[in-house]
Amino acid sequence: MSNTIQKNLNYKKYVVSSKLQYFKLHSSKTEKTFAEEISSSLNHDSKFINPKFFYDKKGSDLFEKICSLPEYYLTRTEISILRKFQPELSSYIDENFRLVELGSGTSVKTRLILDVLTQLHDSVDYFPIDISEILTESSEELLKNYAGLHITGIIDTYEDGLEFLKNFDKKKNLIIFLGSSFGNFSPNDGFEFLQKINSTMKSGDLFLIGLDLIKDKQILESAYDDSQGVTAKFNLNILSRINAELDADFNLKNFSHLAIYNEEKQRIEMYLKSLVNQSVVVSKSNLLLNFKKDELIHTEHSHKYKLSQIHELLDSAGFQIKHTWLDDNKYFSLTLVSIKSDP
Ligand code: AVI
Repeated sequence: MSNTIQKNLNYKKYVVSSKLQYFKLHSSKTEKTFAEEISSSLNHDSKFINPKFFYDKKGSDLFEKICSLPEYYLTRTEISILRKFQPELSSYIDENFRLVELGSGTSVKTRLILDVLTQLHDSVDYFPIDISEILTESSEELLKNYAGLHITGIIDTYEDGLEFLKNFDKKKNLIIFLGSSFGNFSPNDGFEFLQKINSTMKSGDLFLIGLDLIKDKQILESAYDDSQGVTAKFNLNILSRINAELDADFNLKNFSHLAIYNEEKQRIEMYLKSLVNQSVVVSKSNLLLNFKKDELIHTEHSHKYKLSQIHELLDSAGFQIKHTWLDDNKYFSLTLVSIKSDP
């Protein structure tokens, strides 16, 4: 990659070893701070907190726990699909693809795809894109297990990480976006994001997306309101984070976790419900918040899809469907696409 591109995009390159390097943005971007975002999203009649703030260290640990809960079928079902269809997937990626993952891979899923690639090729490149620096730790773990692996981490937002990738080189990319993380976008943002991915891809590149399917309301609601209360802790942790980082005085006992399936909008809606009339100070956001009893803070949407909707969505974002794999219960889907101009 030329120095000009590196400079333009304002990244600094860190070389950890001959097999691990990462690019990190010089912090010149004008992104809103946590305090500013919270200040505008809670200072409303309909209060919300962006779900990206779930993932501090504690929140990320709780999410890992959610992934192995009996009620949270998503992770194990996606893994079972990947396991079952590894041989079929390998027939699409027999050329030397670089694996590009949106979100960093601490999980079994990345490994299942790396298994396929490393069986086919002696040397494999892996590009995790993640805003969190955790990716450097998880990368070192992966390097212990895969001898021919070379990792280039990009510590940035998905959008800018993809822009970086676009200018990188001519090697074919297999981009993966798993776990139905796409379902956490609003429909408009999601569509724009798919178009962004599409515009990043060149002829021959592939994109694999894991999406959750519509199913019985009961199954969906218990996946987001588990019997051990881990999801409730995960949801409430966002308030602990605001307390710790923004000098606030949320009393967690005065809020409860709520997850409901909105059939019309095809999404789980997660909220924190105020159990009493109360006031909360968020010092670093200059806020004095008044909550009425039963008032809701919206924290997450998790969209669920019909297979036909997935295909329509991908088609209208400019993709050509190569294959969709499902589990026997038709709970979850993995769809492989290329850009439309490809054969
Ligand atoms: C990260 N994302 C795909 C999860 C989901 O299922 O929407 C986040 C989550 N929220 C509660 N449980 C899991």
